[in-house]
Amino acid sequence: MKNSAKEVNRDQDLERLRKIPGPLVQWYRENARKMPWRDAPSPYRVWVSEIMLQQTRIEAGKPYFLRFVERLPDFSSLAEAEDETLMKLWEGLGYYSRVRNMKKAAQIIVEKYGGNMPADYAAILSLPGVGEYTAGAVASIAFGIPVPAVDGNVLRVLSRILASDANILQDKEKKRFRELLGQVIPVGCPGDFNQALMELGGLVCIPGKARCEECPVRKFCLARERGITELLPVKAKAKPRRIEERTVVLLIRQGRVALQKRPETGLLAGLWEFPSAEGKLPGEEVQQWAEAQGLSLKMWKTLPPAKHVFSHIEWHMVGILAVLKPDSPEGSFTWVGPEELAGEYALPSAFRAFTELALKILQSPNEV
Ligand code: ADE
Repeated sequence: MKNSAKEVNRDQDLERLRKIPGPLVQWYRENARKMPWRDAPSPYRVWVSEIMLQQTRIEAGKPYFLRFVERLPDFSSLAEAEDETLMKLWEGLGYYSRVRNMKKAAQIIVEKYGGNMPADYAAILSLPGVGEYTAGAVASIAFGIPVPAVDGNVLRVLSRILASDANILQDKEKKRFRELLGQVIPVGCPGDFNQALMELGGLVCIPGKARCEECPVRKFCLARERGITELLPVKAKAKPRRIEERTVVLLIRQGRVALQKRPETGLLAGLWEFPSAEGKLPGEEVQQWAEAQGLSLKMWKTLPPAKHVFSHIEWHMVGILAVLKPDSPEGSFTWVGPEELAGEYALPSAFRAFTELALKILQSPNEV
């Protein structure tokens, strides 16, 4: 059987990436910057440094790190630290929730794991404040577990090596890179390999104009071969969704509710819907709208609002229940009872909140 284009691409990416670890790790060992957490990479020190470096540049982070681990040298001292102490140690780093989560994580480590970080990726990932990147960094650097650690630097490096123009702000692209790296990460030195990728991104494969002449893997870099290094990575923010306000009318007559078909083109084309109009209309306007069509209204009332999110549009809906007099004309609607509404006339899920209300009303009209 022929392989799909996706599989062929993945195989080509893997073939390219398999050439990277040897020269990259050698370069790292010769060029790695000195960092205090690298000197004695205990799980505690690695974890503290990785959380700090999520919001701080390496040079700026060093004094914070040294002060933090001197004052709170292990999980048990952090678990018992006063909040005021934590705030002081974190002052200037911002995002205090990070250090609050660190204390919660330390308490779990003390209570559940006897004060030692578990040497297990999934257990590390489950700690408060720890995401895929931090779990990967701690597991690989502190425990030698061969799992990837993909941060912004690594995304840039990989996008360039593979000449990938996919949007790195999308989770699926991060996941793709994690899966690829998972297959090439050297089992003997996963921590060095992960840090080498970060270090390459921090020193050589920098945003904008990369220092390709210093790069240990330039021979294998497809972006360089194609002359598109500066164009990568692609970071495309999703366009905000357009918000559309709508008024949905539950028009009831003799135990049935009115439906109409949506236009044959556009959103939810040709599907059934409750009568609806653009904008948030007050009940009085809905009454006028009904009477203009010759319908005669017994009562109306406002229903709870509802929201539905499509990929590019959000509907913010208000609902009006309008009950017609039994002898009112039917207008041009299709009138359906509860079984039909739940069955052959099922409406798109965008209307779910109103469909559920309509069913309730049709099934117990006295409660209206
Ligand atoms: N950025 C975050 N953690 C890092 C590490 N361990 N080495 C290099 N850069 C980093």
